[in-house]
Amino acid sequence: MTHITDADAAHRLATRAIHAGQEPDPLAGAVTFPIFQTSTYVQQGIGRNKGYEYARTSNPTRQALERNVAALEGGTHGFAFASGMAAVDSLLKLLSAGDHVVCGENVYGGVHRLMDKILSRMGLTFTFVDTRDPAAVERAVTPRTKVLYGETPTNPMMRLADLAAMGRIAKAHGLLFVVDNTFATPVFQRPFESDADIVVHSTTKYLNGHSDMVGGLVVVREDALAERLAYIQNAAGAVPGPFDCWLALRGLKTLAVRMRQHDANGRRIAEWLAADQRIRAIYYPGLPSHPQHELAKRQMSGFGGMMSIETGSLERAGRVVERVKLFVLAESLGGVESLIGHPATMTHAAVPKAMREAMGLTDGLVRLSVGIEDADDLIADLDQALGS
Ligand SMILES: Cc1ncc(COP(=O)(O)O)c(C=O)c1O
Repeated sequence: MTHITDADAAHRLATRAIHAGQEPDPLAGAVTFPIFQTSTYVQQGIGRNKGYEYARTSNPTRQALERNVAALEGGTHGFAFASGMAAVDSLLKLLSAGDHVVCGENVYGGVHRLMDKILSRMGLTFTFVDTRDPAAVERAVTPRTKVLYGETPTNPMMRLADLAAMGRIAKAHGLLFVVDNTFATPVFQRPFESDADIVVHSTTKYLNGHSDMVGGLVVVREDALAERLAYIQNAAGAVPGPFDCWLALRGLKTLAVRMRQHDANGRRIAEWLAADQRIRAIYYPGLPSHPQHELAKRQMSGFGGMMSIETGSLERAGRVVERVKLFVLAESLGGVESLIGHPATMTHAAVPKAMREAMGLTDGLVRLSVGIEDADDLIADLDQALGS
């Protein structure tokens, strides 16, 4: 756990991205924060040390990252983990057997798998609901419910949850409100302003932005909750190594400018696809045709580069993902390079088929993570991949 300083929170987001948590190092004055590649620290005597004892508990490079992301989200404490899944797993360790979680039905497949296949064996129970509908969320709450967990926009259907409405429900029932802000990032969406208690990220995606590390981050605003999470982070030990933290920090410096370009490219490509007769549907909250466009405009300041298209069949989806030359067929998202994926067989293969199809996640669905290349080149690539 690392608490931000007043200086970390002193400036606007683009400035925080570059400076928060990263004072020049006192030894040599290195402007770029050093990688503290060590597992342990010399102690001056019994119980006397410089605040560092063992690197599972704390590491300066990790602390710099924790402060940076906490400052970007407008939180006070950050916790870095070895992956987004490690972050979700660790925060759910706040719960005890018998507790119940209301979770969005269209969360990342790995989150669904963790809850449904592993944590449910340990006495936690889960209800998966359509978080587009606040009434359905409220109906799912039971006296045992402790957590309301959601993504918005969702992966890959690009559905939105009304954060303000979710925050009100969580408050009314005394639930911890957890928001996965991986897709929108703090640049475009501010869950703490809607009473989220915990914001979680896969730093693997936009925060790092260069597809060269795997990591997760949890941010909170409340001291007592931070203490409980710090205990879990140290006791369970799913922490990242210092080099991965440093890579994430380096990526974060350009977060604001990258997100602007992802957003500009995303809007152009979505508009182009929306006018194309070769696809059956497009899911992008920045389009006026998206059923929740008004909500998107209200709670997001940009729409980013994530979108999904319905090609109509597995065969067509297969042709598109195999024909692209610039888009890369790969798991993951949020890198500077454009990626294309087939959720039914890749990111969401772990979600039962009936549940996938009920939410429109068909075999014909293709997900795009639009990068920051020249948009004309990306459009030309999709044009040739869609074929005649
Ligand atoms: C929205 C979202 N949350 C969490 C995760 C899990 O993160 P990681 O792959 O870093 O474990 C992912 C992974 O794709 C994701 O897309």
